[in-house]
Amino acid sequence: MRLDKFLSVTAVATRKETAKAVRSGTVTVNGIVAKKTDMPVDPEKDTVTYGGKPVVYKQYRYVLLNKPDGYVSATEDGKDPTVLELLPPLYTDLGLFPCGRLDKHTLGLMLLTNNGELSHRLLSPRRHVAKRYAFRVKFPLSDADCACFRDGVTLEDGYETKPAEIELNQDKKSGTVTLIEGKYHQIKRMMEALHNQITYLERVTFGPLTLPADLARGEWRELTAAQEQALLDAAK
Ligand code: URA
Repeated sequence: MRLDKFLSVTAVATRKETAKAVRSGTVTVNGIVAKKTDMPVDPEKDTVTYGGKPVVYKQYRYVLLNKPDGYVSATEDGKDPTVLELLPPLYTDLGLFPCGRLDKHTLGLMLLTNNGELSHRLLSPRRHVAKRYAFRVKFPLSDADCACFRDGVTLEDGYETKPAEIELNQDKKSGTVTLIEGKYHQIKRMMEALHNQITYLERVTFGPLTLPADLARGEWRELTAAQEQALLDAAK
């Protein structure tokens, strides 16, 4: 792989930035100052530094993002801004895509990755990876409504949802729901089946991941090694 490609797939520098850094002698390969941006680099074997810092090669990247209102969970959209637009261009070039969908007005935890196989496994209905959502509805929920959630709700198209956990706050109009599947607009449709209406929805967990309290809307960070491992374990 060319040095400039290596530095772009590791989200360190654009080709232009690499050219500038190479000219100023701040990129090294195996301890020797790089002279050309197209010099070959073996990502598995060579040691590259950029501005004095070692560059760690990772084939797969995992980004946890706090989705704001109005963004769509897609890589491209003709109409609305996409969650990818919240990342710097270097990350977009890594081929990241959203692992699962949140509706345009749903907020919270969104995982982006370029690991297609892991994403597929995390979303597979067979694996039952749990996702918890904080919600608010228009009308108070009754014990019978909660029992319906726990037993499974019949949606308007006849689909019978898998049992979902529900916890209500004292106001009975807010709480959390935990799903082990991910049908289109699922929570909205479950509430509608009970003649209620979602007014607020935020995903707070996805498998082993929790939305960090200090991650503001629209902000993102890469997963730690421990979080990555926990995700791989959840997808086994
Ligand atoms: N259920 C919904 O209705 N919307 C989401 O975005 C996620 C779960």
